[in-house]
Amino acid sequence: MIDPFARDIHYLRVSVTDRCNLRCVYCMPEQGIPLVDHEEVLRFEEFEQLIRIAAAEGIRRVRVTGGEPLVRKGIVDFVARVKEIPGIEDVALTTNGILLPQFARDLKAAGLNRVNISLDTLRPERFLSITRTGQVKDVWAGIEAALDEGLHPVKLNVVVMGGVNDDEVVDFARLTERLPIHVRFIELMPIGEGDPRFHGHFYSVEQMEKSLAAAGLTLTGRKEITGGGPARYTSLLGAPGTVGFISAISKHFCLLCNRLRLTAEGKLRPCLHSSREIDIRGPLRKGASDNLLRRIFREAIEGKPQQHSMQEDGWGEQARMMSQIGG
Ligand code: GTP
Ligand code: 5AD
Ligand code: SF4
Repeated sequence: MIDPFARDIHYLRVSVTDRCNLRCVYCMPEQGIPLVDHEEVLRFEEFEQLIRIAAAEGIRRVRVTGGEPLVRKGIVDFVARVKEIPGIEDVALTTNGILLPQFARDLKAAGLNRVNISLDTLRPERFLSITRTGQVKDVWAGIEAALDEGLHPVKLNVVVMGGVNDDEVVDFARLTERLPIHVRFIELMPIGEGDPRFHGHFYSVEQMEKSLAAAGLTLTGRKEITGGGPARYTSLLGAPGTVGFISAISKHFCLLCNRLRLTAEGKLRPCLHSSREIDIRGPLRKGASDNLLRRIFREAIEGKPQQHSMQEDGWGEQARMMSQIGG
């Protein structure tokens, strides 16, 4: 599907739940967020029906997100069913990794192509303070399970926050010298409520690059890594992994946008930042024809803005949390 700005929209991000087993400070308040009723969340068969229609309209890649997608029962079967939809070439998962030791093998057998794992720090105490409840060793077990099962490429998502974890960019980059993983440094976006104390911690890609250079790390060449997202990849000399940057704020990549989002409650979201959403659950549950549902997908794509208008300190402008949108 081509949008009004001539972009080919072929990547659907599907948030299958707003629930999560962590409480990252920038994402959620400590007590969590008011959860959506089970009835309001799409059933897997409903997601499947919508993805089938999206695929007929040109969607070729699906990313399963959350909240934490692995907390939802039946996720492995869902992945297997999505993988079988004609036209879907790539099914990927974004996860905090905690449950991967339990699921990696079955996910691979179900046809999952690859995983992106969120990990903002390598230090146990800091991990606990960022996620409020997790243990970094559990994420490492998840990363190892993903590597062992061949869910390649395995990417790490590191949201860099000044004064919180910016002193770890060198350690993260060095990981790529010993492991075939793709570390992506992400600029903090002002989405969600989280803990207001973390709102002022924007750290730009330019600052990250300066920190790496100051430590004597030389990144060379542009690398192409399987994916369809906004990261730009480069690498350390001779390293099996790569270092990527997602400059969501300082140099947005909206002109190359290729995606549409489907939220757990069955809303199509044309842009991560814009709060405009189009209800597709209502018509679906009223028995709308495939033709009508197809038209709703097209309406969402026709409504994609040219670019976002996020500012690094624009917290509070968003009604929704990241865990409800799926990143
Ligand atoms: P692949 O390249 O296919 O591996 O996926 P991805 O990097 O797009 O997905 P992932 O879920 O790992 O997201 C990585 C980071 O990019 C997260 O912080 C997302 O919120 C952010 N991101 C993903 N899509 C968009 C987008 O359309 N706009 C913006 N501003 N950020 C995005
Ligand atoms: N800014 C940037 N990235 C974020 N993520 C969650 N909240 C934010 C934010 N405010 C990342 C998570 C996860 C991905 C889906 O989005 O770390 O890896
Ligand atoms: Fe959970 Fe991801 Fe939000 Fe952390 S950022 S609380 S892992 S949904």
